[in-house]
Amino acid sequence: MSGHLKTLTRYLIETRREHGEQATGDLNGLINAVTTAMKIIANQVNKGALVGALGNHAENAINVQGEVQKKLDVISNDAMISETEWVGHLAGLASEEMDDFMPIPSKYKRGKYLLVFDPLDGSSNIDVNLTVGSIFSVLHAPEHKGPTTLQDFLQPGTEQVCAGFALYGPATMLVMTSGHGVDGFTLDRDIGAFMLTHPQMKIPEDTREFAINASNSRFWEPPISRYVAECLQGTHGPRGQDFNMRWIASMVAETFRILTRGGVFMYPTDSKAPGSSGRLRLMYEANPIAFIIEQAGGKATTGRNRIMEVQPESLHQRIPLILGSKNEVERIERYHQEHAQGLDREFSSPLFNVRSLFSGE
Ligand code: AHG
Ligand code: MN
Ligand code: MN
Repeated sequence: MSGHLKTLTRYLIETRREHGEQATGDLNGLINAVTTAMKIIANQVNKGALVGALGNHAENAINVQGEVQKKLDVISNDAMISETEWVGHLAGLASEEMDDFMPIPSKYKRGKYLLVFDPLDGSSNIDVNLTVGSIFSVLHAPEHKGPTTLQDFLQPGTEQVCAGFALYGPATMLVMTSGHGVDGFTLDRDIGAFMLTHPQMKIPEDTREFAINASNSRFWEPPISRYVAECLQGTHGPRGQDFNMRWIASMVAETFRILTRGGVFMYPTDSKAPGSSGRLRLMYEANPIAFIIEQAGGKATTGRNRIMEVQPESLHQRIPLILGSKNEVERIERYHQEHAQGLDREFSSPLFNVRSLFSGE
């Protein structure tokens, strides 16, 4: 019974009239194609074992990230490509599951946008029936006569035209921004349409909830150890209040929780894999999620820099990511500054290891 709600189609047309008098409708055409792919993926995720979609893609299938590829990673990647390559609005595509970017095949019309995506985020959760999702980011294809190049894709997040993610959870949802706030939609399976159920989502500025993979705590930098230790000390520590902790290992699900009730999500840099910088990928995970978080009033940072201002150097570049409720993210940024200035000696000294609940050995 969603008849009183606005469909995504109506929302897109009305939003274009409101904000983009000059707009041609190409972006709407592209969003329509992306959300069709999301419905196809939702259907496969939902059917799971019934259609043989669970499990690993192949015995030793590893993607360019060095991670195990699930069957649904590949199914989702294929759906996203086949629904978007033909529409005539793209000059190229890039995905977590493909080593290199893909120029649009010459048999199709070339368009003015680039699409970068994570076809299935949180896919390690797929076989245990937890929420996963798809993330996308739309960039302008730089105007030049030659074929699409890698350089065309390497634009900072501030250049994004539109970004969004789908959630395949108890309900299938779509969350999206094109720079005018964040709107959330729920898929009504009876009519096959996304309906506007969460208009203009806003993240509370303060929170008492944080999310981090605590199994990495011995590899964290001092500002993160300090922040988490203070949260864990609760009413007995400098924060003077108790905190709650969550870790779903599915950033889309964590992001939706933060959009709904506030919180902080951290996948910081750590010393676990020397030379690497964080776990999440800048172009198709951190940037689109950062755009959404900022548009909902939150913040997204590496701890030292605004995520969306980082100049990408490669397609699959990883980045430390801290995002969520504004005041809390600003506090974590301050802890990074204080550490750089040597003002947090207590947390930089070996003594801290004894005092920390997570790093005491
Ligand atoms: P993906 O499934 O696309 O590789 O991404 C999973 C990401 C992210 O969603 C999640 O927050 C993080 O990896 C979980 O990492 P850990 O397994 O280290 O907790
Ligand atoms: Mn991912
Ligand atoms: Mn993925």
